[in-house]
Amino acid sequence: MDEDGYFGESVAAGYDDSSAEMFDPRVVESTVDVLAELAGGGRALEFGIGTGRIALPLARRGVEVHGIDLSRAMVARLRAKPGGDAIGVTIGDFATTKVPGSFSLTYLVFNTIMNLTTQEAQVACFRNAAAHLEPGGCFVIEVGVPDLRRLPPGQNVVPFQVGETEWAYDVYHVATQKMSSNYVKVVDGRGEFRSIPFRYVWPAELDLMAQLAGLRLRARWDGWTRAPFTDESRQHVSVWEKPAG
Ligand SMILES: C[S@@+](CC[C@H](N)C(=O)[O-])C[C@H]1O[C@@H](n2cnc3c(N)ncnc32)[C@H](O)[C@@H]1O
Repeated sequence: MDEDGYFGESVAAGYDDSSAEMFDPRVVESTVDVLAELAGGGRALEFGIGTGRIALPLARRGVEVHGIDLSRAMVARLRAKPGGDAIGVTIGDFATTKVPGSFSLTYLVFNTIMNLTTQEAQVACFRNAAAHLEPGGCFVIEVGVPDLRRLPPGQNVVPFQVGETEWAYDVYHVATQKMSSNYVKVVDGRGEFRSIPFRYVWPAELDLMAQLAGLRLRARWDGWTRAPFTDESRQHVSVWEKPAG
């Protein structure tokens, strides 16, 4: 890890080349549909804006978008894209960094709340989101439901990619809610290893963090299509609002 956190130059260089579902234009469109509607003609602030996967198409819908990110390397990719120079970005930690003005929407997508590895930092993030919102504004999070149902008693590792030259697995510590995603890759006959720490967090705990920050739950869906959140949901999109007045 360097000053760019876990999204330094080597990760940033390949981030947009990923064939992951998150880059599917239909996924991006449905994300932006929800966020543009929630912004309601006001300004939006993205925590962990990265290379602008969501911020750029949201800005193309006419929403004024600002971002916060730790990684200069990720933000340099955003800047290099058409429209990237029109998006204001503040380099800093989204749990504590303030940007000028107020917003009708703050949002934090793609599991990035889990990049904050303590409960204290996650609570601070909610307070920071709430502090940027105007009354009636919303904070939106997209994050997975902790995958503990895949852990039989005595096991704490869940592999999620097993290939010829690449392997990836999550390690869970249920006593602390700490986890890590770990990647092993063979390049030119040599193994490369990368590990990213996370803190997994339950929907109900997020609701409590929202309450501590003066927000209340408006909606929880299974995803950006707004399908109902159920016992079988593996992820959720949650919307908390700052009460008006
Ligand atoms: C998985 S990427 C998501 C980027 C973008 N939101 C997207 O959906 O493609 C996570 C981003 O959050 C940033 N990040 C992680 N922890 C952060 C923190 N505490 N403060 C600011 N940025 C952070 C990383 O640098 C990275 O750009």
